[in-house]
Amino acid sequence: MSARIISVANRKGGVGKTTLTIILATALAKEKKKKVLLLDCDNQRSAFDYSNIQKQVYDESPPYEIRTLHPKYIYDELRFNKDKYDVIFIDIPRMTDDSKDSSVIQVLTCCDTVLIPVVAGNLEALSTRDFVKTLKGIEEFKKERNIQFNYLGFLNKRNRRKENEEAIEFMKAEGVSMMNNSLSDVKLFTTPSVYESILDSKEGKERFKPFFKEFLKTCKIK
Ligand SMILES: Nc1ncnc2c1ncn2[C@@H]1O[C@H](COP(=O)(O)OP(=O)(O)OP(=O)(O)O)[C@@H](O)[C@H]1O
Ligand SMILES: [Mg+2]
Repeated sequence: MSARIISVANRKGGVGKTTLTIILATALAKEKKKKVLLLDCDNQRSAFDYSNIQKQVYDESPPYEIRTLHPKYIYDELRFNKDKYDVIFIDIPRMTDDSKDSSVIQVLTCCDTVLIPVVAGNLEALSTRDFVKTLKGIEEFKKERNIQFNYLGFLNKRNRRKENEEAIEFMKAEGVSMMNNSLSDVKLFTTPSVYESILDSKEGKERFKPFFKEFLKTCKIK
């Protein structure tokens, strides 16, 4: 067994990276019975802190393992754990200057797949464009060495505004494939740990399940 290594990442803050990481890790563990590890490399420690809240407030342990990790240890951490898990998610560190931010590049280079949450808006688009440049650099590096690397956008926090369509077109023009399914801007996705609300509820089935199905296909997870 060699784990799939996945990051939900973007340079832009607040677009849903951590939330989606937690939801997907939960869904893979619960629905697909996968052994999942979440490495929280972000010094905000949102995912890690949330797992503690989950235990204290919801009295529910996450169905995946979670650890905080300084990005400088990523190679060793993966070397020790790659064979022990089916999927490893990495929540990336905060980005400072794209081109020089070696810890983010280091972490992203370890991934097989990077999913980019895209949120409508001009500032979001500019930030995402910089991030895509970083990914293209990594893609080139990996291609020269014949190593698989996929990145794919998805629209998050979709609402009725026409800016959503513009955001999708913008990403395509930047040469980034977009997932067919998007996630709407609803409260359902703000409490990611509550399994029943996302995976078992009627709303969850309608809104999350098609996205999850496409995610599995994209990441070639059976
Ligand atoms: N589809 C969605 N619908 C509604 N709210 C969402 C959705 N996705 C994320 N959010 C909310 O957006 C906020 C930011 O999400 P999150 O912390 O996951 O973003 P992030 O990209 O990890 O941020 P940071 O850059 O600070 O790490 C949170 O309050 C979260 O609950
Ligand atoms: Mg985060």
